Amino acid sequence: MAKPKLLVTRRLPPAVTERLTATYDAVTNADDHIMSADEVIEKAQGKDALLVTPADKVNAALIERLPASVKMIATFSVGYEHIDLEAAKKRGYPVSNTPDVLTDATADITLLLMLGAARRAYEGERAVREASWKSWSTTYMLGIHMTGKRLGIFGMGRIGQAVAKRARAFDMEIHYSNRNRLSPDLEQGATFHADPEALLGVSDFFSINAPASPETFHWLNAARIAKLPDNAIVINTARGTLVDDAALIAALKSGKLFSAGLDVFENEPNLNPAYRELSNVFLLPHLGSATVDTRNAMGFKALDNLDAFFAGKPLLDRVV
Ligand code: DGY
Repeated sequence: MAKPKLLVTRRLPPAVTERLTATYDAVTNADDHIMSADEVIEKAQGKDALLVTPADKVNAALIERLPASVKMIATFSVGYEHIDLEAAKKRGYPVSNTPDVLTDATADITLLLMLGAARRAYEGERAVREASWKSWSTTYMLGIHMTGKRLGIFGMGRIGQAVAKRARAFDMEIHYSNRNRLSPDLEQGATFHADPEALLGVSDFFSINAPASPETFHWLNAARIAKLPDNAIVINTARGTLVDDAALIAALKSGKLFSAGLDVFENEPNLNPAYRELSNVFLLPHLGSATVDTRNAMGFKALDNLDAFFAGKPLLDRVV
C-alpha cells in the first residue's frame, strides 16, 4: 500500500524523522525555515495531511486554500491557538495535539524561571562574564527568598499541577485559580480561588499556566498587576498573549514587581524590545518543552495521531 503523503512544515528531531520516513512519504523542511502561506499551499498539493508547529500560522485564510487532498492536521505542540479550529471544522479536518508528554519539561522550566527571576540569575551571570563582580559582599545582588513563599498558579491543568508539585519541595504555599476546582487528591492542600482576581493578592510568585484564548488575552493587565503584592514575581510559561507587555514592563520599571521570568512572548520571536533593556527580567526563548526526550515524545505523539487517522481509528488526542 502506498505511504500516506505528508507535508511537515518544520525540521523534526532525528529520531522522529526516522520514524516518519518509515511510514510516510513526507516533504520535510531540512533548513527549518518558516514557510510562507504560499509555500505551504504549494507544498501541500497532493498531500494527505499536514504536520505543523506553533510557529506556523494555520489561520482561516490558509485552511480555506488547502487542496482537497488534505484530510487532517496534526500539531507538534500541546497548544493549538495557532490553528483556526472553526475553519478546520468547516473543512472537516480532525486536528490533533501532543498533551501530557511535555508537562514535566514545562514545569521544570517554570521552576527555573522562578528561581532565576527571584535570585537574579541573569544579572549574576552577566556580572561574572563581564568581570564586573568585585568581591563577595553582605549586600551584593540580593534576591527574593523562594522557600516558604506563596505561589499563585493561574490555570491548574496538567502543567499547573506539576508546577505545584515541584513548588511543594520549596515549602511554598500553593494557591490556584482554574475553571473548575480540583478534587482533593489533585488539589493536595492547595487553596482554590474561584475568582482569579482574588488569587492575585496572595501571589508572591504568580505563575501563568493557562491556555491562550480570547478570554485570557492580555489577562494580566495594569489593573491586575496592581493587585499583586509589592515585590511580586511574575512567571509565564504558557503563552505571551496572556500578558499586556506594556503593563508588565511598566511594573518592572517602577519597582512594583521585583522581577519576571518569561519563556513566551506575544509576537515571539519579535518580543517587545523594552524587555531586553531590563535587568530584572529573566528571559528564555520558548524552551519549555525543549529537551531531547520531550521533543522526541511530542513528535512520536504527533505520529501516533497520524497513524491512528490513516488506520481509520479514533485520534488519541483530538482537539476537534
Ligand atoms: C506547546 O506544545 O504548546 C509548547 O508551547 C511548545 O513548547
